[in-house]
Amino acid sequence: MILPVILSGGTGSRLWPVSRESYPKQFLVLNSGSLTLLQETLRRVEGLPGCLAPLLVCHEQHRFLVAEQLRGMSMSASRILLEPAGRNTAPALALAALASLELDEDPCLLVMPADHAIRHTDLFVAAVEQGLALVEAGRLVTFGIVPHSPHTGYGYIRVGPAEGAGHRVDDFVEKPDPERARQYLASGDHLWNSGIFLFRARQYLDELRQQAGDILDCCEAAYRERQEDLDFLRVGRDAFLGCRSDSIDYAILENTRDAAVIPMDPGWSDIGSWDALFDLKAGESDERGNVVQGDVLLEGTRGSLVRSESRLVATVGVDNLIVVETEDAVLVADRGHAQAIRNIVARLQDEA
Ligand code: GDD
Ligand code: MG
Repeated sequence: MILPVILSGGTGSRLWPVSRESYPKQFLVLNSGSLTLLQETLRRVEGLPGCLAPLLVCHEQHRFLVAEQLRGMSMSASRILLEPAGRNTAPALALAALASLELDEDPCLLVMPADHAIRHTDLFVAAVEQGLALVEAGRLVTFGIVPHSPHTGYGYIRVGPAEGAGHRVDDFVEKPDPERARQYLASGDHLWNSGIFLFRARQYLDELRQQAGDILDCCEAAYRERQEDLDFLRVGRDAFLGCRSDSIDYAILENTRDAAVIPMDPGWSDIGSWDALFDLKAGESDERGNVVQGDVLLEGTRGSLVRSESRLVATVGVDNLIVVETEDAVLVADRGHAQAIRNIVARLQDEA
């Protein structure tokens, strides 16, 4: 059985001021007209035939947001696992894998971040179906995207010999420095890791035992101390807080010899920053290349993203800006510098 696992614990700091710690980007309507990013992910899961109801993993602080957004889609989850604090994706997936063994003998986990846009669900579903054969052959399957820039926020996969509908992974490097990212892009034989994975629960746990046994120990202890709370499952607080933070990419994918990649091109985007959202929405821009959201008036403005949430926002005679207005904060940034917004968030946290 396929069990979709939706990772919903990130903070989305580069999308400040709309994305906040208490209300991060996956719970916001950023891409489509009416669905939040989490709801778009849930909709994608509905397109997959023969799956169990999804399992969600999130911060305990967001449990009611998650429950409400599921209700908004008339969907229910197999489980909603609550973390007392984020410890990144390797522990989150360890909890998911442990919980999944109560739903099925050894389910095939389809790991999906809650904050991606995928334009063509049918192509995504086809890629997942191709991946299943590789999972049966004992692989940890990733889905690869042809890179179009030397982005340093992604994992880079060196494509190896063909296997099934995909390829073996020769090498995996998470978030390379700019120089190496440029080399990988120029090489023509690298794909970006989409952050979507398919593997058997027991295989993930075995890999974790080999590559990061301490993480598995903490997560097993935390899972043993779990408590049911309404629709939610809380894991043992102290045991989980004692776990170190690490991502599946650093902890497992950089080290395993059993990874395979299915290349896909379903119009995928990680909406990690305002720049990324601008690129994603470029097809809907006005004749001067502006992307507007909300109550906005533009005059002599080009190539800008302008979003208003609570007031009219007007711009005159400016180019290539990101302007984002919310009730209590306004961001004005040069397009192309939107990655540095996380520094503003860090400063705000320091002051708090
Ligand atoms: N439950 C839970 N707990 N979820 C988490 C946690 C956590 O502690 N940390 C992150 N997540 C969720 C995020 O909400 C997101 O949906 C997903 O896990 C991936 O985390 P990110 O923090 O967004 O990772 P990234 O974008 O830096 O890198 C990953 O994705 C890239 C593609 O978007 C990696 O897999 C890269 O290799 C990949 O290229
Ligand atoms: Mg991401």
